[in-house]
Amino acid sequence: MQIQPIYNENAIVVTGICGSLREESYTRLAVETALIGASQQGAQARLIDLRDYDLPFVDGREKEDYPEVVHQLKREVAGAQGIILGTPEYHGSYSGVLKNALDHMGFREFEGKVLGLIGVAEGGMGAVNALNHLRLVGRSLRAWVIPQQVSLPQVWGLYDDDGNLKSGHIEAHIIEVGRQVARFAALRRNEQFSEFIREWETAMNNPGAE
Ligand SMILES: Cc1cc2nc3c(=O)[nH]c(=O)nc-3n(C[C@H](O)[C@H](O)[C@H](O)COP(=O)(O)O)c2cc1C
Repeated sequence: MQIQPIYNENAIVVTGICGSLREESYTRLAVETALIGASQQGAQARLIDLRDYDLPFVDGREKEDYPEVVHQLKREVAGAQGIILGTPEYHGSYSGVLKNALDHMGFREFEGKVLGLIGVAEGGMGAVNALNHLRLVGRSLRAWVIPQQVSLPQVWGLYDDDGNLKSGHIEAHIIEVGRQVARFAALRRNEQFSEFIREWETAMNNPGAE
């Protein structure tokens, strides 16, 4: 079923972050596909390719002492209402390069944002562990992680030599993640919905759930 836009979503910005630096990264291809979904929903879609950001490791120095490229990354993510995180499965989790990028950021970039997750893996088990771990990170950053996500197992068999997905069904699934991120980000911005969310976000913590 096609989701029809209800609100004016022109000003919604959705940023995709690719957690692989590999030249022919499948993660990058998948995130780009999700961003097509976001733009179909009326969002301004942008890819953050971490190859373009020579990020130092987080090392405890004062935030303002990091190089400009770190601040540029943070500004770009802070300017988005929806964020798509793409990662390869590395040793049963998400990639170190994405971890370091996320560690440079915090509530200012993620709190209250709508987050979509996509993972790729060489193995048949897919990237479910990486996605579960990212879901926890999203929760920790107080982002709204959408329930729908995409894990692409045995990803090397899913694309043709031109970098196109062979299965329209899988492509539609990835596009849907991008559409939902844009859709929920637009709803999140809507006045009445914001009221609901404000109530929700200020609800008492459940001590046992921490
Ligand atoms: C350090 C490392 C660890 C990996 N660990 C796993 C793993 O636990 N499970 C798996 O299915 N694939 C694993 N892979 C394979 C990657 O998920 C696979 O190559 C994927 O396509 C990489 O994503 P990319 O194409 O976006 O670079 C690993 C690859 C590397 C380099």
